[in-house]
Amino acid sequence: MSESKKIFRVGLGVCGGIAAYKAIEVLRLLQKANCEVRVAMTRHATEFVQPLTFRALTENYVLVDDYDENNPDPIAHINFSQNIDLLLIVPATANVIAKFANGIADDFLTSTYLASNAPVMIAPAMNVTMWNHAATQRNIAALRKDGVYFVEPIAGELACKTVGTGKLEDVENIADQALKLLVESRESRVERENQTLDSRLSTLDLKGESLLITVGGTREAIDPVRFISNHSSGKMGFAVAEMAAKRGVRVTVVCGVTTVSPPANVEVVRAVSAEEMFQAVMKKLPEATIFIGAAAVADYRPKNVADAKIKKTDQVTLTLELEKTPDILSNVSGNRHGNLLVVGFAAETNDVAAYAKSKMVRKNLDLVVANDITKKGAGFNSDTNIATIISRKGEIDLPLMSKRELADKILDEVIKLRQN
Ligand code: CTP
Repeated sequence: MSESKKIFRVGLGVCGGIAAYKAIEVLRLLQKANCEVRVAMTRHATEFVQPLTFRALTENYVLVDDYDENNPDPIAHINFSQNIDLLLIVPATANVIAKFANGIADDFLTSTYLASNAPVMIAPAMNVTMWNHAATQRNIAALRKDGVYFVEPIAGELACKTVGTGKLEDVENIADQALKLLVESRESRVERENQTLDSRLSTLDLKGESLLITVGGTREAIDPVRFISNHSSGKMGFAVAEMAAKRGVRVTVVCGVTTVSPPANVEVVRAVSAEEMFQAVMKKLPEATIFIGAAAVADYRPKNVADAKIKKTDQVTLTLELEKTPDILSNVSGNRHGNLLVVGFAAETNDVAAYAKSKMVRKNLDLVVANDITKKGAGFNSDTNIATIISRKGEIDLPLMSKRELADKILDEVIKLRQN
C-alpha cells in the first residue's frame, strides 16, 4: 500500500505493563484499516516488548528516549506529536495516567502528550487495586475533563491472578473505537471548515432537486408473529437524506424498518414490506428528480402468509415457498420521466466491482454505490462505510469514512451527472 493512500496517522504509545504485547495486535489492526502508525514506548515498556518488534512492523524508528544518540530526529517529540491524527496509548499504566493528568513531561511519551493537539485515547490496564485507587480515579476524571477519551478496562482475571476490573479491553474493540474517533474528528474538522461563507453558499448546490429515497430493511410476513428480514439499520440512507436536505433538496424518504430515527426536514412515508415500499415509491415517483434505492429490499417473500400462527408439529423440517418481490429500482428506471437520475446500492460479499457493474447495466442505473460488507468498518450497523462509486464513466474508490461523508460524495457525483 503506498504512503499516499494511508488515511489516518496514529501515534501509538506503549507503556510498561504485561499487556504491552497486545499493542502489537492493535497496531496490526490499525495498519489493516489503512492507518500509518508510529510507535513511542516508555523505558519500562521495552522490558516487556522489544522496540525492534515495532520497528519491524512499522518500518520506522521507535522512539523511547529522544536524547538517545541513535534517534534520527533531534526534535522528535514535536515532529512526532504534530504529525498524528490520534495519540493512542495501549496499555496505559497508572503512572503514565498520573503524569498526563499533571502535565509531567519527563520522557518521550509524556512530552509527546503535552506537545500534541491531536485527540488522545487511553486504554488502561493495571491491577484492580491500582485502578480503583482514589489517586488513579482522580487522574482519570481530570483527563476526561481535559477531553481525553478512555477505552475502559474490563473485568476478568488479571496478570497478578486477582479477579477484578483492570484487564485491557479487547484489542478489536480498541481498534474500532480508535477508528471511530478518527472518523468523527475528521468529520467535525470538515464541518468547522464548512462554516466559511463560501461553503455556506455552496451548500445549497442541489436546490430545486427533489429526492425520493428508500431506506432500511423490509419485513416479509410468514404468519402474524414471524417475518423474514435483514440487518439493515437505515443509517446510510438516512445520511444521504440528511445531507441532501442540507444541500437544498426536497427529500421524501420511503422508510422500511430501521434502528435509528430519520433526520429532520424530510418527509417520511412508512412502508414495511417490499410490496408496500414498491407502492409508496411508485406513488411518489412523478414528483422526484432523483431516485436513490438505499433500502435492503427482500428479494423473496413467503408465497402464502398464514392467517394464524404456524404451530410446531412432529415434522423435523418445514418448507416455506417463496416468491419474488417487485424489484423497485428496476421498476423506477424502467419508468423514467424527464431528467430523473437513478442511483442504486450494491452491498456485496465478493466480486464487488463486477457484481455492481452488472447491476448498473441490468437495472439501467446512472450510479451504483458498491461496498464490500465483509470489510471492517463497512458493515450493516456501522457508522462508517468503505465504498466505490461507479458510473458509466468510471469508478471512484473511497477510503473508510463516515456515512455522512460518503453521502456528500454520492451527492457530489449526482451533481456532476446533472451538469453533463
Ligand atoms: N432493490 C430494490 N428492490 C428489490 C431489490 C433490490 O429496489 N426488490 C434495490 C436496492 O435498494 C439496491 C439495489 O436494488 O439499491 C441492489 O440490491 P441488491 O439486493 O444487491 O440487488 P439484487 O438485484 O437483488 O441482487 P442480489 O442477487 O445481489 O441480491
